[in-house]
Amino acid sequence: MHTSLRRSTSGPPALAAVLLVLVVLAGAAVPGSAASAVPAPAAQAAGPWWRHAVIYEIYPRSFQDSNGDGTGDLIGITQRLDYLERLAVDAIWIAPIYPSAQVDFGYDITDYQAVDPMFGTLAEFDRLLGEARRRNIRIILDMVLNHTSDQHPWFIDAARSRDSRYHDFYVWSAGKLDAAGHRQPPNNWVSLFGGSAWEFVPAVGQFYYHRFYRQQPDLNWRNPEVERAMFAAMRFWLDRGVAGFRLDAVTELFEDAKLRDAPALGGTNAQGDPNLSDIYTKNLPEVHDVMRRLRAMVDTYPGERVLIGETYLAKTADLDAWYGGPKHNELHLPMDTLVGFGNRLDANTFRRRLLESQTELHDSQPLLVFDNHDNVRSWDRFGDGVHDAQIARIVAALLLTTRATALMYQGQEIGQRTQTPTRVEDVRDPLGVRGWPRDKGRDGERTPMQWDSSNAQAGFSTNPHTWLPVTANYRNVNVHSEAADPGSLLNWYRRLIALRRSNRALREGRMVMLDTANPSVLSYARVSVDDETVIVSLNMSAQPQTPSLDLVQAGLHGSHLQTLLSSPDPLSRGGAKEPVSLPPYAAWVAELR
Ligand code: NOJ
Repeated sequence: MHTSLRRSTSGPPALAAVLLVLVVLAGAAVPGSAASAVPAPAAQAAGPWWRHAVIYEIYPRSFQDSNGDGTGDLIGITQRLDYLERLAVDAIWIAPIYPSAQVDFGYDITDYQAVDPMFGTLAEFDRLLGEARRRNIRIILDMVLNHTSDQHPWFIDAARSRDSRYHDFYVWSAGKLDAAGHRQPPNNWVSLFGGSAWEFVPAVGQFYYHRFYRQQPDLNWRNPEVERAMFAAMRFWLDRGVAGFRLDAVTELFEDAKLRDAPALGGTNAQGDPNLSDIYTKNLPEVHDVMRRLRAMVDTYPGERVLIGETYLAKTADLDAWYGGPKHNELHLPMDTLVGFGNRLDANTFRRRLLESQTELHDSQPLLVFDNHDNVRSWDRFGDGVHDAQIARIVAALLLTTRATALMYQGQEIGQRTQTPTRVEDVRDPLGVRGWPRDKGRDGERTPMQWDSSNAQAGFSTNPHTWLPVTANYRNVNVHSEAADPGSLLNWYRRLIALRRSNRALREGRMVMLDTANPSVLSYARVSVDDETVIVSLNMSAQPQTPSLDLVQAGLHGSHLQTLLSSPDPLSRGGAKEPVSLPPYAAWVAELR
């Protein structure tokens, strides 16, 4: 536990001790040109690379199409590596590229040791790996351990006969007979994607369990053969040189062995199913044994491979077990989805959540994420319709200046919007087809990357029939035009990432909350082991605010604050003795001297 954090939050500070720091906004803010500075090599940083990394998620269908079929591919990613190098990300996580039945767009795998022809070939993957390495960019693959496709040879065989050697690779039940003598599923569990979680297979006279679509049968992790097969698949990629995995739905690997009914919570969800407790279908204790063995396996590889978890959990404290608690022997970076996937830009909520991530995880490294291919984009969740562009800069600052590894999603850095389909016949995501109109699915956050305005496909493809439509705002919101505009969101991201790399306090310093009773402005300090200190203040309100930075109370040294980055830029240049005044939704990053 950080004592300084406790000090800055413990009780109302005595009046005399509240020192409103007088800020001298000396010198100009870092000019746009600073963004073009070659980023400091990550090798200078202390600790493993992933501890201070910026990881960039690529949804490969929508990143770059190289062959004009309207869908992104591996050669397309390779073609865009220079862009990622310039953005200065440390690693890319690519959503599944394996052969798949493509019902869930890659998350229903039919072969764990190959590349889907729609994305390219294994040789093209190796070339991508090599080109990325030349640019100091690591590649993290998605690994779907919870389920396969129902078209995977294992499942096809398992569903053929109870005598199949693969039958026990999946979770089966004979179900139960109702009063009329009809066979019913064994319990009330529902799929997260709608309907019963059980599907009957007449050939074997049993139901199989599927947490997601019925085309995604769950693997039976109580069968040691499953673990062996999946670890072998991971070794295949580790041997090729991938930097690690993002583990899909990893909290769901085990289910209650007794298949007990889930307690009802009342009401229905967006798919029209009853809301049920997930005590029997999520986060079961056995999963941690698998995680420890997986970590041990991955740690036998050189080069600091990393395990990232897709861990949607109810409380920050629940994340601790996923790191292995004080032993730190499970995942390196289970995702904290609580900070970034809210709907309200609220200083108190962010302060509380961030404080929890600093104090409840046995000093493990938090992994923050605000955007991905499953959630409405942060622009649309946090924006108020008036200050959206400014709010997007605050989100970027939260992601890149708090003490956390940063995970971002393609298009976030240029302010891509969520484009939800308006007609059910246009929906591609089965979730949206089934859930329409209450749940319109995830197409909106998966639209193609907006590179330029050279054609109606925003430079993503030459094919007018892209797999999802390009968002109409591509003429203004695109990489090419934002790269040329020093005040763009893209350049704000570039400057933040460059600063995070070069500034030790931001890269690896501890975090101290400041001005903790302020309901409108979130302020914190990052302090390196050498006491280099950076102060961040984010005005999360539509009114101008003057934070009360109780630096002495927080045990911080220095009285002179030099702006490093601000948005709007420049902030008010008050007289030498004026505290900093933050316009609505302003973000301010300053060095304390
Ligand atoms: C989480 C993935 O991110 C999502 O896209 C997918 O549908 C489910 N897991 C099931 O694999």
